[in-house]
Amino acid sequence: MSGRVAGKVAIVTGGSRGVGRADAELLAAEGARVILTDINEEAGRAVAAEIGDAATFFKQDVSSESDWQSLVATVEKDFGQLDVLINNAAILEHGDILNASYDSWQRIFRINADSVFLGIKTALPLIEKSGGGSIINMSSSSALMGMPAFAAYGSAKAAVRGLTQSVAVYCHKAGKGVRCNSVHPDGIVTPMTMEMAEKAAGMNLSDPARSRAFVCQPQEVAKLVLFLASDDSRHINGAAMTIDNGSTITPPYV
Ligand SMILES: NC(=O)c1ccc[n+]([C@@H]2O[C@H](COP(=O)([O-])OP(=O)(O)OC[C@H]3O[C@@H](n4cnc5c(N)ncnc54)[C@H](O)[C@@H]3O)[C@@H](O)[C@H]2O)c1
Repeated sequence: MSGRVAGKVAIVTGGSRGVGRADAELLAAEGARVILTDINEEAGRAVAAEIGDAATFFKQDVSSESDWQSLVATVEKDFGQLDVLINNAAILEHGDILNASYDSWQRIFRINADSVFLGIKTALPLIEKSGGGSIINMSSSSALMGMPAFAAYGSAKAAVRGLTQSVAVYCHKAGKGVRCNSVHPDGIVTPMTMEMAEKAAGMNLSDPARSRAFVCQPQEVAKLVLFLASDDSRHINGAAMTIDNGSTITPPYV
């Protein structure tokens, strides 16, 4: 099979919808074998079936260390290699410092940040054994800016950025050809943002005329992820790749 990631084996967490689904579809179309994981088994299996032979579904809670261990053991047994790890699964709950509950803070850190630590820690030895590869961590514009409504979410995404840098330098020094980068989108049209916006403002954003706040499509993020997964980005390690049409660098008075 030809393609920009032909011959590679990739894990995509949270692959049953939104950006993860778009990543899985594009990587498979570009020649990779994709293991997509999710807690939502029904939707995940349906997406894998739609993609076809190149995709396999694995039920996983990304915050569970034992689920990571079973996943990586299964990938090693069934595929014999792992080249790409995309830590994509996450949840969004909003709340400023006074309104966010400690429960919500802990849940968000478990699912959005601990998961990335566990995923890299568990999968890195197999990626190294496979001759090197690429780890892509979905962070957010909220890791780079102060967003009062996302006290916990933005902090967890900043932790993902910090871990990305630590792992990138670790991998560089280890010299085994593994790279680790973070991706920082802002406002993608996915079920995550639709649900949040509907809850927050009572708006029905499935109406395209009302969805102008969210202009980036999941498929556009998937193209960046594909680039980072492919050998075209072989000299990019530790980068924070924004995909936000300039929003993180635009002062409010402009
Ligand atoms: N949508 C945006 O505007 C936006 C902006 C910045 C960053 N991001 C990040 O991009 C990534 C994808 O976001 P999305 O908008 O596609 O989200 P989404 O909510 O549409 O999809 C997330 C997927 O993760 C799965 N998931 C949730 N908890 C899980 C768990 N514990 N274990 C396994 N799977 C779990 C969900 O079932 C779902 O399929 C996330 O990391 C998100 O934080 C999104």
